[in-house]
Amino acid sequence: MFFRLAVLVLLVNSIAGDVNFIYQGFRQANLILDGLAEVTFNGLLKLTNDTRQQKGHAFYSSPVKFKSSTNGTAFSFSTTFVFAIVPEYPTLSGHGIAFVISPTRDLSGGLASQFLGLFNESNNGNSSNHVVAVELDTIQNKELNDIDDNHVGIDINGLKSEVSHGAGYYVNGPDQFSNLTLISGRPMLVWVEYDSLEQIMNVTLAPINVPKPKVPLLSLPIDLSPLVNDTVYVGFSSSTGSVLTSHYILGWSFMINGKAEELDISQLPKLPRRGTKQPTKFWTIGMPLISLTLVFATGSGMVYFIRRKRKFADEVEDWELEYGPQRFKYKDLYVATKGFKDKGLLGTGGFGRVYKGVLPTSKLEVAVKRVSHESRQGMREFVAEIVSIGRLRHRNLVQLLGYCRRKTELLLVYDYMPNGSLDKYLYDEPMVTLTWRQRFRVIKGVASGLFYLHEEWEQVVVHRDVKASNVLLDGELNGRLGDFGLARLYDHGTDPRTTHVVGTLGYLAPEHTRTGKATTKTDVFSFGAFLLEVACGRRPIEQQAENENMILVDLVYSFWLRGEILEVRDPKLGTDFVAEEVELVLNLGLLCSNSDPRFRPSMRQVVQYLEMDLPLPDLSALGLTAGGLTFTHGEGFDDFALSYPSLDTSSVAESLLSEGR
Ligand SMILES: *[C@@H]1O[C@H](CO)[C@@H](O)[C@H](O)[C@H]1NC(C)=O
Ligand SMILES: *[C@@H]1O[C@H](CO)[C@@H](O)[C@H](O)[C@H]1NC(C)=O
Ligand SMILES: *[C@@H]1O[C@H](CO)[C@@H](O)[C@H](O)[C@H]1NC(C)=O
Ligand SMILES: *[C@@H]1O[C@H](CO)[C@@H](O)[C@H](O)[C@H]1NC(C)=O
Ligand SMILES: *[C@@H]1O[C@H](CO)[C@@H](O)[C@H](O)[C@H]1NC(C)=O
Ligand SMILES: *[C@@H]1O[C@H](CO)[C@@H](O)[C@H](O)[C@H]1NC(C)=O
Ligand SMILES: *[C@@H]1O[C@H](CO)[C@@H](O)[C@H](O)[C@H]1NC(C)=O
Repeated sequence: MFFRLAVLVLLVNSIAGDVNFIYQGFRQANLILDGLAEVTFNGLLKLTNDTRQQKGHAFYSSPVKFKSSTNGTAFSFSTTFVFAIVPEYPTLSGHGIAFVISPTRDLSGGLASQFLGLFNESNNGNSSNHVVAVELDTIQNKELNDIDDNHVGIDINGLKSEVSHGAGYYVNGPDQFSNLTLISGRPMLVWVEYDSLEQIMNVTLAPINVPKPKVPLLSLPIDLSPLVNDTVYVGFSSSTGSVLTSHYILGWSFMINGKAEELDISQLPKLPRRGTKQPTKFWTIGMPLISLTLVFATGSGMVYFIRRKRKFADEVEDWELEYGPQRFKYKDLYVATKGFKDKGLLGTGGFGRVYKGVLPTSKLEVAVKRVSHESRQGMREFVAEIVSIGRLRHRNLVQLLGYCRRKTELLLVYDYMPNGSLDKYLYDEPMVTLTWRQRFRVIKGVASGLFYLHEEWEQVVVHRDVKASNVLLDGELNGRLGDFGLARLYDHGTDPRTTHVVGTLGYLAPEHTRTGKATTKTDVFSFGAFLLEVACGRRPIEQQAENENMILVDLVYSFWLRGEILEVRDPKLGTDFVAEEVELVLNLGLLCSNSDPRFRPSMRQVVQYLEMDLPLPDLSALGLTAGGLTFTHGEGFDDFALSYPSLDTSSVAESLLSEGR
């Protein structure tokens, strides 16, 4: 069985082809980070924070096949990214950023400072490193032959660049050069392109508001084939020195054997506003101490009163007045949650922390979600939408009661769901598992809630994050979908149709990751993953060993191929289940997981299938004839394809299919 699975996974993933990805913001990106690197709340990849003499690395988590397995020639590739270097002082900074192609993700031996987190004194320049990098170097190190403290270079195995040039770009042809300052704090674009026929590597730099310059900044004739490994990791490395500096990547696209997709600047996350310096110790420690002393020493209620007033201040703007009834006072929510104490914390989700509370006058139990929002942009539209969503009423949706807005924070008030979220009853040795009857009822409830959002409300509401942990159970164990519409908070960019991809890996439809567009069909895909997880009691993706994931849809599919789909059900169900219903749910899960959105059912059909008003179409007629497996989960799982690069996919597909019949 394991062999079959491996073959299946290989097959599924080889169809995905060469590595090709685009991240406009990194909130859901498939990255492995170490050192200081982190992805900030709004999706910036922050390679370093304000810490001295440290480094940070971020690699695309899957290995990238970089050479032809027939003749060992390195593939062409192209990549483009937007970075920003934000130093504490305008004229001084840390050491810079490098785009890296490395045989390993483990650069722990690399030093900070001038080594950019890549190498150390003993291995710098050694040809056994097999590392190719493009450095954006902001400090001149004479021992590394740096030309100045503001240059771009191509590095092979060490930090003495093969070729380098002061930062800037050719405006219109090679005669007019315009300087750029890497540490300006402004975002800039970099393109790195390698052509395996021409054997040339080009690097181009430009401000984000100009089209890609025709003449590259650097052009190095080189054959990468003997330098790089068959399988490499691609990513970024950065290091700080003695001056506090933050290094950011805002967006990144990459493609093997093709031209990396251009980044849409308007879709990138915003850098933190400049000039908002960290409050000094006086304000964080001194001031509160002083005011406390004042309160207690003078006993005059005045200071206390002012502080209290500020503490509970919420914001109301003119446009909000019409939303009167749905607005809550911050003070009431503060009292309701007993000051947002950790004790009342119900959970922490992708969008913020959720607290339990009891409203002071009505004594109604509520859940209060605190969502921080860094920009005011889009707040108005979002609030309008929240209010409109607040008018949605369905027994399988968690009711939104209202909101409160305060500084950069939005507080959303929901009905309290005493039984918590569904995932707690499915995985990790739950205290209570749900019976099949209960599960089937939850499934049908969620389906009808989602159908309501898609088709029965006056406008189409795409949920964008359907998954077991977003399904809450009310007092009678009815499933209710929560968090709908929240993902929109991050969407109000210039083009309302494309967005940063918000959602959860394993539930994201392939076309959603690719295009960033959430549709009702991407919801159906997530719903399919949800069906499988409820029936199998397993998460959509489970890491089993390093580089080895169990992909639930593939597992279920393999059981289906053998005509034993029922056997993949959650063993915790015991013998108390209705075979026909379990089979229906599993088959429907597969149907919804089709990688081609056209073949997924609508939520209306899903409801009809679940109610058994419509017979489920025959999967074998649908899924397999159109070019083999359609249940591909290409994005993010290229590891498997890479492990067996030379096998011929089509013959495997044939043998697999004939076996399955
Ligand atoms: C920077 O990140 C490190 C590691 O994540 C953390 O320990 C440190 O407190 C951070 N420093 C600042 C100034 O945020
Ligand atoms: C090497 O093989 C690839 C196909 O894998 C082909 O495109 C390329 O032209 C070959 N290069 C040489 C130098 O033979
Ligand atoms: C230098 O880096 C290499 C590779 O990461 C590591 O094996 C080696 O121990 C490091 N040497 C020193 C002196 O840190
Ligand atoms: C390069 O590294 C290898 C393996 O780490 C080592 O054996 C070799 O001596 C190094 N070469 C030089 C010139 O330092
Ligand atoms: C651009 O930078 C170079 C190198 O630092 C310098 O020599 C030149 O004067 C600068 N040009 C302009 C127009 O500032
Ligand atoms: C690199 O730049 C040179 C000079 O402008 C150009 O002729 C060549 O096509 C470029 N190659 C790639 C792969 O961009
Ligand atoms: C990279 O390739 C070289 C030579 O082809 C090999 O010695 C080395 O072990 C490889 N590195 C990794 C991490 O696979």
